[in-house]
Amino acid sequence: MTVAEAEACLEGLYAGAEPYRLSHGFRNQQKLTDVSFTYGEVQPASFHAVLSAVPKAPGGTFYDLGSGSGRAVILSSLLFDFERAVGVELVAPLVDFSNEVLAKLKTQATTRCVIDFYTGDLLQADFSEAQVVFAHSACYSMDLMKALVARAEALMKPGAVLVTINKNVHSRAFQRLNSVLCEMDWGSSLASIYLRR
Ligand SMILES: C[S@@+](CC[C@H](N)C(=O)[O-])C[C@H]1O[C@@H](n2cnc3c(N)ncnc32)[C@H](O)[C@@H]1O
Repeated sequence: MTVAEAEACLEGLYAGAEPYRLSHGFRNQQKLTDVSFTYGEVQPASFHAVLSAVPKAPGGTFYDLGSGSGRAVILSSLLFDFERAVGVELVAPLVDFSNEVLAKLKTQATTRCVIDFYTGDLLQADFSEAQVVFAHSACYSMDLMKALVARAEALMKPGAVLVTINKNVHSRAFQRLNSVLCEMDWGSSLASIYLRR
């Protein structure tokens, strides 16, 4: 699918969506004040540009750690040749909504990619099978980033790729391959692509 087609598809799937309201409501109710839960979303063209910069053609399993309303997961299935795409998100109403979008998608498009959304802490997720791990980490706290990188070191297989947004990965287990300037819904960002050695 082209980027323009994916954009049109997403517009239909997310028409009337209120992910910011869902995120705020849950965070207020659960008293989640950590800055890491700040909400923001990928844009189709930016996401395509970032994943296109991954040297080996993306395939296998894609993970989004902190998947919000599921846009990156859905886009990965529409724009790339992944066999499986998984989103992990702690804000339960966003996961419920992602599953509603997924149900809608299944009535509208055929994709051979198997898509799953889970409610949970990304630090508990088993993403060892992933070929590409995406973390829209612009607002992730230093503590969360440190723990995420430690878990990625432990789980990710050599040759797999970790993509972060506006955060560097400080680890000898990861080699920075390149960076891509891109627009997210809240502004300009730097996506960095790291190879698990
Ligand atoms: C900037 S949003 C990105 C949403 C989506 N990945 C996208 O790019 O469109 C970051 C998401 O990470 C989630 N998050 C933050 N910390 C988390 C954690 N420890 N476990 C699971 N999700 C987390 C937030 O609730 C938020 O929905």
